[in-house]
Amino acid sequence: MTSKKTTPLYQAKSIKKYFPVTGGILRRTIGQVKALDGVDLDIYRGETISVIGESGCGKTTLGRMLAVLQKPTDGELTFDFGDGLQDVAHLDRGEELAFRKKVQMIFQDPYTSFNPRQRVGVAMDEVLQVHGVKDPEERFSRIKEACEMVNMRVEYLQRYPHEFSGGQRQRLAIARCLAVKPELIIADEIVSALDVSIQAQIVNLLRKIQKETGLSFVFITHDVAVARYVGHRIAVMYLGSVVEILPAEALPENAEHPYTIALLSAVPDMNLQGKKKQIALQGEVPSPIDAPSGCAFSTRCPYVMDICKTTRPTLRIAADGKAGHQVACHLETPPTGE
Ligand SMILES: Nc1ncnc2c1ncn2[C@@H]1O[C@H](COP(=O)(O)OP(=O)(O)OP(=O)(O)O)[C@@H](O)[C@H]1O
Ligand SMILES: [Mg+2]
Repeated sequence: MTSKKTTPLYQAKSIKKYFPVTGGILRRTIGQVKALDGVDLDIYRGETISVIGESGCGKTTLGRMLAVLQKPTDGELTFDFGDGLQDVAHLDRGEELAFRKKVQMIFQDPYTSFNPRQRVGVAMDEVLQVHGVKDPEERFSRIKEACEMVNMRVEYLQRYPHEFSGGQRQRLAIARCLAVKPELIIADEIVSALDVSIQAQIVNLLRKIQKETGLSFVFITHDVAVARYVGHRIAVMYLGSVVEILPAEALPENAEHPYTIALLSAVPDMNLQGKKKQIALQGEVPSPIDAPSGCAFSTRCPYVMDICKTTRPTLRIAADGKAGHQVACHLETPPTGE
């Protein structure tokens, strides 16, 4: 992977997304939910980035920003269509369609993404028509190829969405994306609603597709073990920002941000016990309406210093110096957690 890392396919710089909070009979704006408060993320060709973090930290909002389903309040989103990075946050309709062909998003609940009154084959065909594939034979061959990639029989395309199990529907949602031939797929908690054996099936399928096609993925999950299994790199989010990005193989030993270590300490699989590197999380996640100034984690961090309360740390190269490992923390020496 690292050899391909020259210029990113997609770059998010200082992305902010604030939602207004209204109150009173006049519905005046009385505050802002800072769902994203300055996220930086580079996505390279052929890599899967897993995004992890507690509920409400902004994972879905980040996914929606990257798919440009909503516009960021501030920040830059640039995508490489072939001749360098280009702004995608302000596209006209034609350019937007070209972007949607390159970047596809899959959601947790495929029930809502398929029209219940439409046969799935027809739904897939429509998507390709929207993307300008005029030849019906070409559309059919693309759909067939995509179905083969997700191990679905082409005859199933005659069925309606309710005739499939949750796992099958999710495979169809993946096939629908693949038929468009995108360069990046953003998958938001796509296995969370499935039972464990089906989860494993879909996760293995995604890994296989990634290897075969060389597509880039952003894989959003709250399951650290799945994130590590699927992703080449892991982005750890806390209260609207990315606090650490690290190669999957660096987990759990090389985690440097106190929040990442705390998150891993809560996962028995990560087996940090032997390494004595554990942090127990204290207190509650602050409200994104009233996030701490300085480091967002400062109110809960056992290593908090004065600077953490006033100055927000930005992502820098991690102390272990590993390629692709960045951390946003004022601590010069990573905590041992002992
Ligand atoms: N449309 C909206 N209006 C107001 N607030 C919103 C909106 N969408 C998200 N938020 C808030 O933004 C924050 C981040 O939400 P988001 O859904 O991105 O979190 P998440 O990490 O995906 O959580 P989960 O793991 O539960 O899916 C939350 O505090 C949420 O309440
Ligand atoms: Mg979410």
